[in-house]
Amino acid sequence: MCGIIGYLGDDEALSVVTAGLANLEYRGYDSAGVALGDTELTVYKRAGEVDALTEILPESTSHTRGIGHTRWSTHGPPTDANAHPHTDEAGRVAVVHNGIIENYEQLRERLSDRTFTSETDTEVIPHLIAAELDAGKSPKEAVKAAAAQLEGSYAIVVTIAGVDSLFAIREGSPLIIGHAENGTFLGSDVTAFLDHTQQVTYLADGDLAVIDRDGLSVYRNGELVDVAVEELDWEADAAEKGGYDHYMRKEIHEQPRALRQTISGRLDTDRGRVALDIDLPTEYLESLEEIQLVACGTSYYASVYAADLFESLADVRTTVEVASEYEFSTNRDPWRTLVVAVTQSGETADTLSAIRTAARAGARTLAVTNTLGSTITREVDDTVFIRAGPEIGVAATKTFASQVATLALLVVLVGRKRGALSSERATSVLDSLRGLPGAVQQILDREDTVLETAETYADSDAFFFIGRRLGRAVSLEGALKLKEISYDHAEGFPAGELKHGPLALVTENTPVLAVLTDGARPEATLPNVREVQARDAPVIGAVSDTEASALDVTFPVPDLGVMEPLVTNVYWQLFAYHVANLKGRSIDKPRNLAKSVTVE
Ligand code: F6R
Repeated sequence: MCGIIGYLGDDEALSVVTAGLANLEYRGYDSAGVALGDTELTVYKRAGEVDALTEILPESTSHTRGIGHTRWSTHGPPTDANAHPHTDEAGRVAVVHNGIIENYEQLRERLSDRTFTSETDTEVIPHLIAAELDAGKSPKEAVKAAAAQLEGSYAIVVTIAGVDSLFAIREGSPLIIGHAENGTFLGSDVTAFLDHTQQVTYLADGDLAVIDRDGLSVYRNGELVDVAVEELDWEADAAEKGGYDHYMRKEIHEQPRALRQTISGRLDTDRGRVALDIDLPTEYLESLEEIQLVACGTSYYASVYAADLFESLADVRTTVEVASEYEFSTNRDPWRTLVVAVTQSGETADTLSAIRTAARAGARTLAVTNTLGSTITREVDDTVFIRAGPEIGVAATKTFASQVATLALLVVLVGRKRGALSSERATSVLDSLRGLPGAVQQILDREDTVLETAETYADSDAFFFIGRRLGRAVSLEGALKLKEISYDHAEGFPAGELKHGPLALVTENTPVLAVLTDGARPEATLPNVREVQARDAPVIGAVSDTEASALDVTFPVPDLGVMEPLVTNVYWQLFAYHVANLKGRSIDKPRNLAKSVTVE
């Protein structure tokens, strides 16, 4: 979705802002633009990729203040005119905006004496600010007064000709300030400026930030407030490709490290306990009737995996809800229901909306997220970070693994506090978690075999993924990964469902990828495998017991108990990656998709 970069400092703003735009490309976008200037502003913007924008940019300028934007169309198609920044008629005020202005039609009517040049909701903002400046307000007051007229969600950055400051205000969309020796940065996420600094300030909803040559000032309810500067623990190269062709492949290979970070310092294997630094009192957990996991896409499938673990290990009824469909049923007791939002970005609009519904109903809420300072962390009672590090590829990979591992830690915490999980059983789950990084590495070391398999089957008509229990979650995720980056038809099913309809689609040209490991009821899935083999479908199976196979391709999975299906998922990720790569797809930025889906 849309991305924002802003800079005011000692360096030439053009190169800082264009590098920031390149860092934001991963979010998904269809046009881009920048505004630079001092006493006069110049706007350059273009439909298409940042490379297309670069063609119309000057080689260098002397300006040290600039803003930039990558747009993912909502109001109006991706055209040069609809790209951000937008300006008032005189070109005095330039604005970049993430989010949606819900009352823009009324505002346009109110501003009917002014000429609009785009179809966007955003364009009302520079006109409103210009009107306030015309009425004699100071730049800061004009930005504040304009924002007060907006309804909806927004993160806005404003530059004004002749004013050596940047102004920013947020409501519902993230905006982060970066502090560096060479100046102050603004970003919709930290990757926009991660190569310059790890010192950040997270703005809260309603904050008005003013950046000038002395640094940052933040106004909350009209008062100047002190804000914290936090140190990120992301490595400086974490958001770079580091020798890989694609971020996705790099992130698949980062899984052992990400998983080590996820579990680090959280396991007490000897006592079968975990430390998660959250406030879930034992008496609350003892009386808990239900856990509801709310999420979208890959995070939803991580939740499907976890739900099975919650039910079997923590003895608590657990439902998984697609966030966009979530409602808090009146026949549930909010005091006995824990609602857990699982979201890599912490910014997914559907998940935020679901968690607000749960909070309104009076339920205790918890977020499982990768993103420090994200909106969800401000809306929930407590947060557990998955610590996977930045994920740039649109297709989630390492964050799926780290989400499942984090949720498994939560399962152990809840199971132990409820008295449902013995210390021996807990210890065996924690041992599986401890073994995860090494087991994932073993799969990564077999990438050549996966590549060969991808070469054999890349031109198939369709792909079916099957598995039971934990294997079902991985099948759903495996199919999603393949379809989103290869654009091939792929579907995941609980293995037993195949014969109730989908079997009609199975031919010798539709490979079936089966999870045949512990935790996925391989003995029950094997007959389903034989059914598809009887219809001549090739079968690629991930197995912990290789004797059970007689398959076209056998991928061995090390012995790891309930984490075996999660390890299998690494094969499915590599398979999806190589099929897509053989087809020359845009792997890190698949068509029509965005990394962070901030609209409902
Ligand atoms: C697929 C993918 C998406 C996200 C979904 C939720 O590879 O990445 O399906 O999982 O959009 O995003 P988050 O986890 O940020 O809420």
